[in-house]
Amino acid sequence: MKNIIEIDSVIFRYSDDEKNILDIESLCVKEGEHLFLHGKSGSGKTTFLNMLCGIIEPNSGEIKIVTEDITKLSASQKDRFRSDNYGTIFQQFNLLPYLSVEQNIALACQFSKQKSLNVKNVKEEIRNLLDALDLPLDLLAKSAMTLSVGQQQRVAVARALIGQPKIIIADEPTSALDSDTKDRFMELLFKQLKVQNSTLVFVSHDKTLSSHFSKVYDFSEINKALK
Ligand SMILES: Nc1ncnc2c1ncn2[C@@H]1O[C@H](COP(=O)(O)OP(=O)(O)O)[C@@H](O)[C@H]1O
Ligand SMILES: [Mg+2]
Repeated sequence: MKNIIEIDSVIFRYSDDEKNILDIESLCVKEGEHLFLHGKSGSGKTTFLNMLCGIIEPNSGEIKIVTEDITKLSASQKDRFRSDNYGTIFQQFNLLPYLSVEQNIALACQFSKQKSLNVKNVKEEIRNLLDALDLPLDLLAKSAMTLSVGQQQRVAVARALIGQPKIIIADEPTSALDSDTKDRFMELLFKQLKVQNSTLVFVSHDKTLSSHFSKVYDFSEINKALK
């Protein structure tokens, strides 16, 4: 299977007079793989994901996504590359509170020509996703802020998955969920990932989530800046 992410000798620090936050010799993720990186708080997981998405640039090294070295793209090329190729799920505040559930999900296609080309009928696809994620259709017109946190996180999954982006990035998406909601969230996320064959990079401090993943790494083993 082909590589979707290839990281080579990456170093990152927030400012030149401070220590390195990331020092990663190499990391490879193949198409369709589900990678779990667990590491304690402050170990650089969020920084790493921001770098994978091209939001922050490494001080040195290469980050190849599919065939593109994203460190070589201009700011506007990076923005376009990100909206076309990624879907993201964060810890919290995922949705725009004053938009409806439907508008929140549709946003991903409005920001990306590629995603909107991948979806024949956006309205229909949003309904399919809600159904697959076990969310009632009467939520569609509701404002995102009226939903429970568990529902909001599943809507965030729908928004991340719509338009079949190559890479799904998840930053501690279950940390605000209780254990029952968390299990259901993971189950539904993986069911839908399988349908789309997306590659997943998921970070969390919660080791109990490892059982869901095909590939599990301790972030402190990968990130030499912690040593
Ligand atoms: N914007 C920033 N500017 C300066 N330092 C930061 C910034 N964001 C995070 N850090 C520092 O980088 C380190 C790693 O943080 P982070 O990537 O958020 O870790 P994690 O997600 O694993 O908890 C921490 O020491 C944190 O204080
Ligand atoms: Mg973090």
